[in-house]
Amino acid sequence: MAAPFILEVRDLRIAFDTPGGSVAPVEEVSFALRAGETLAIVGESGCGKTLSALSLLRLLPKTLHATGEIRFGGNNLLALSEADMSRVRGNEIAMVFQEPMTALNPVLTIGRQIAEPLMLHNGLDRAAAWDRAVDMLRLVEIPEPGRRVNEYPHQLSGGMRQRAMIAMALACSPKFSSPTNRRLLST
Ligand SMILES: Nc1ncnc2c1ncn2[C@@H]1O[C@H](COP(=O)(O)OP(=O)(O)OP(=O)(O)O)[C@@H](O)[C@H]1O
Ligand SMILES: [Mg+2]
Repeated sequence: MAAPFILEVRDLRIAFDTPGGSVAPVEEVSFALRAGETLAIVGESGCGKTLSALSLLRLLPKTLHATGEIRFGGNNLLALSEADMSRVRGNEIAMVFQEPMTALNPVLTIGRQIAEPLMLHNGLDRAAAWDRAVDMLRLVEIPEPGRRVNEYPHQLSGGMRQRAMIAMALACSPKFSSPTNRRLLST
């Protein structure tokens, strides 16, 4: 028997207001994903992949408004309170952002950036979160993870930074993550 759906997006519309009326870069987008499945969203540049992905985490720029339904864990994510949504973000749904130099905080060590959500979401103390950050860097095959964990983003190569982003997304063992070896979302 097929696994149940973990995510169902129905009739997603992302729009912004202009003096001439509402303009929707994303319209009539529907897709569903079962536990354990990988979904690749492919399309020409500007077709709305990143906006669709950001809307799942409710991280759209404030000028954009998403409507429709994003069903995940029995809820419509578009209707959750901001407090409930921040429990979903990172903990249950994770995203590997493009452009690590923009997404990583340049003044915090890689270890601190991986450890923080573990303390926040998983209740680990600082030492345990730090150990797990080292383990995660090892998992994504960053050499000398015990040393790299203390470094700042600019000290890592581009490929290492991208892998640090993956380590960060997977650290809290989310049910759903993008794009990794688990379930692919896009961007
Ligand atoms: N903040 C915004 N306000 C208005 N329109 C936007 C905003 N951000 C993106 N868009 C427009 O929405 C459309 C979809 O953009 P999006 O970034 O989702 O494309 P994409 O499919 O991820 O493209 P790429 O493959 O180049 O990454 C584009 O036409 C873009 O110009
Ligand atoms: Mg994109």
